[in-house]
Amino acid sequence: MSVRTLRLPRPRHARRAFGAAAVTAVAALAAATLLPTGQAGAADTTLRSLAESKGIYFGTAMTQSDLNNSALTAIAGSQFGMLTPGNEMKWDTTEPARGSFNFAPADRLVSFAQANSMRLRGHTLVWHSQLPSWVSGLPTTQVKAAMENHITNEVAHYKGKLYSWDVVNEPFNEDGSFRTDAFYNAMGSGFVADALRTARAADTNAKLYLNDYNIEGRNPKSDAMYNLVKSLKSQGVPLDGVGFQAHFVLGQVPSTFKANLQRFVALGVNVAVTELDDRIQLPATTASLNQQASDYATVVDTCLAVTGCAGITQWGVGDADSWIPGTFPGYGAATMYDANYRPKPAYTATATALGGGSTSPSPTPAGSCKVTGTVSAWNSGLTEDITITNTGSTTINGWSLAFTLPTGQTVTSSWNASLAPATGQVAAKNLSYNGALAPGASSSFGFQATHTGNTSLPSLFSLNGAPCTTA
Ligand code: G3I
Repeated sequence: MSVRTLRLPRPRHARRAFGAAAVTAVAALAAATLLPTGQAGAADTTLRSLAESKGIYFGTAMTQSDLNNSALTAIAGSQFGMLTPGNEMKWDTTEPARGSFNFAPADRLVSFAQANSMRLRGHTLVWHSQLPSWVSGLPTTQVKAAMENHITNEVAHYKGKLYSWDVVNEPFNEDGSFRTDAFYNAMGSGFVADALRTARAADTNAKLYLNDYNIEGRNPKSDAMYNLVKSLKSQGVPLDGVGFQAHFVLGQVPSTFKANLQRFVALGVNVAVTELDDRIQLPATTASLNQQASDYATVVDTCLAVTGCAGITQWGVGDADSWIPGTFPGYGAATMYDANYRPKPAYTATATALGGGSTSPSPTPAGSCKVTGTVSAWNSGLTEDITITNTGSTTINGWSLAFTLPTGQTVTSSWNASLAPATGQVAAKNLSYNGALAPGASSSFGFQATHTGNTSLPSLFSLNGAPCTTA
């Protein structure tokens, strides 16, 4: 969308505004985002900046298709400082046929991360799942060479661009025995050391991790990982960290989580929470959302309490892009953002645990912005003027206002902001001259759109991921 800074002539009829001249759209918006005002919000700042001020990172996983969702990207690019490609760096995408590499999907996510000054966790080089059949069908004598070639090519492609690699993912069964996958069957447990050494040879700077699930507490599987790490370190194998996926079930963060992380750190590795979510039996209730907030706070508190915990990554940005409902029927609501990308109590609790000035978890976290708007419509067109006010107590440097355009409306031009996409979930981003919003300050932008009969105002506004009140 090209940006025009010129004001467009606006017809006088059919003018509507938020507030006194209430219209259906306003009522709907208010119902959807009824927010307490005057709450000092964790939303005054971002998870990313709060985490970084505590010396850890806060990240998210994203897939290629997420790049088309402006509500999602607005949050990802502002709230999270680390990005893990959800699927695009896995073997089935990067080397679908032997020696034939495809890095284009992951490169798009790398570009997004770079454009938003996010670091990247590479995920994953050696894994039994999402493994093309040509690898699992190889004679065992050829697997080592194929694995080394895959690692060498992929790590070399991303050399200098990634913070870390999950070199080996999920090597263990629940009882602590090795999975009998193509790699173990061909090389025994030595495939882990070989994979790590191969990765280090291709990139001396990226931190090399082993990653698994159900190893957060003390149990046979985490004991197996512990013994493996101990053995690798004693042999001088390059290993920098262990990733604890942390796909939790509501209320079941293990009581041994902190002690378990600490025993790994004592071996001389970093630890990280790499795929955090906390699944709830649907429908979610106020009680379950508050329990989830408590679980998220426990995870943050634990990482902050463990010297050597590098950071936390949530698996997905919001409930709408989470893998949980597809894999665990009847469960969902597993992330910090709801299906419309509004922050949930878990967001507030996380921000608070990271040191953000906030109130206790609330089902409707306060926004740090207020939005007012007017619409002027004629037969098939309309113009809308939107004013954002920073109601928080800190300056906002760079804003992205996400909102939902009514069905049938298509943006054709805009001023004082760049808008994309033209329909549906739209993000309006500041231009070079109006990105700073001091506490109490306002900024206005507008756009022209075509419509097919619905001339309502947009709804569900959120600024840099935090929902806004409407006057
Ligand atoms: O690409 C195909 C598409 O062509 C097809 O039409 C569609 C139909 O089902 O499937 C698509 O593939 C899906 C793929 O994600 C890409 O979207 C697979 O079915 C689906 O199984 C796969 O799920 C991924 C899962 O790993 C596979 O195990 C999830 O998105 C991804 O979030 C998940 O991530 C894993 C971590 O890598 C490791 N830890 C556990 C975590 C959750 O399972």
